[in-house]
Amino acid sequence: MGPAAYTEGEQFQRERRTLFAHAWLPFAASAQLAAAGDFVSHSIGGWPLFAIRGDDGVAHGFHNVCRHQSMPVVEQTVGSCEVLRCRYHGWSYAKTGEFLDSPPRVAPNDLREKLSLNAVELCERDGFCMLRVQPRGTEPPRLLLPTSRFATAITTDIDANWKAVVEALLADQDCQFVWPLAFTAKAEADLGIMRQVVPRSFSRTRIVDLIFGANDPTDDLAACRSRASAAKAAAETCQRARAEALAPTPSDEAVEFLRNVALTTPTRGSRSSRFVMQTLLERWRVGALSFSSRFRNS
Ligand code: FES
Repeated sequence: MGPAAYTEGEQFQRERRTLFAHAWLPFAASAQLAAAGDFVSHSIGGWPLFAIRGDDGVAHGFHNVCRHQSMPVVEQTVGSCEVLRCRYHGWSYAKTGEFLDSPPRVAPNDLREKLSLNAVELCERDGFCMLRVQPRGTEPPRLLLPTSRFATAITTDIDANWKAVVEALLADQDCQFVWPLAFTAKAEADLGIMRQVVPRSFSRTRIVDLIFGANDPTDDLAACRSRASAAKAAAETCQRARAEALAPTPSDEAVEFLRNVALTTPTRGSRSSRFVMQTLLERWRVGALSFSSRFRNS
């Protein structure tokens, strides 16, 4: 991939539509949504999303977009609430997304049933929640989270495109990469880390390290913070290198990763785009034939 894929928004918009929209996005440890009303929000690949635990113990995922004037419904990354109330004009929603109420001066004209928050698919298993914006039939990956107790989350913001961040993290042999945005790692025997990559824009990425089993909060968390700082430095170095024509050759793992990105984000006229078009034409042809046979049989 050329420098523009790391420094301009066009490729990021393709990734948003064809990769992030259909992928299972690592979102939150179940322990972060321990009680009813607990929520976690992230903006991933341009999709503002949040997950919240309902009163019945089931976690739900939504677009973080108010149905009144499209402002964010929750504004903290992590929090808890009894009712979801948009702070802009006061529309409120249940934890299951249903529209509840609004102040009379901004009351909706539409039917209340039509004003629920837009839901996204959420899969919770093995102690972790993953979200998917547009279903596409694939099973979520197994993440094999550490079994020890959840301790905390460490958030690190990085001035780099998400591909440079993943490439830098792939160099860590203690981490297992789970396409497209997760790493599981075991720092020490009693300390487990699950690392989420959160692409926020084409030039900014967040990593969220979910820490499990920190026995000595001071030393263990200091070690985790220093590990996150090292990842940030490596990713920003990788970004500078990829933004220049003289970038070093990627590792085998990075080549494989970049090939997958290219396959899922085809540009018009590329080999992968022709492959996608051929697949679509083949599906259309099959659909057309079955339509013809139904027509003939009628
Ligand atoms: S944008 Fe949410 S109440 Fe107006």
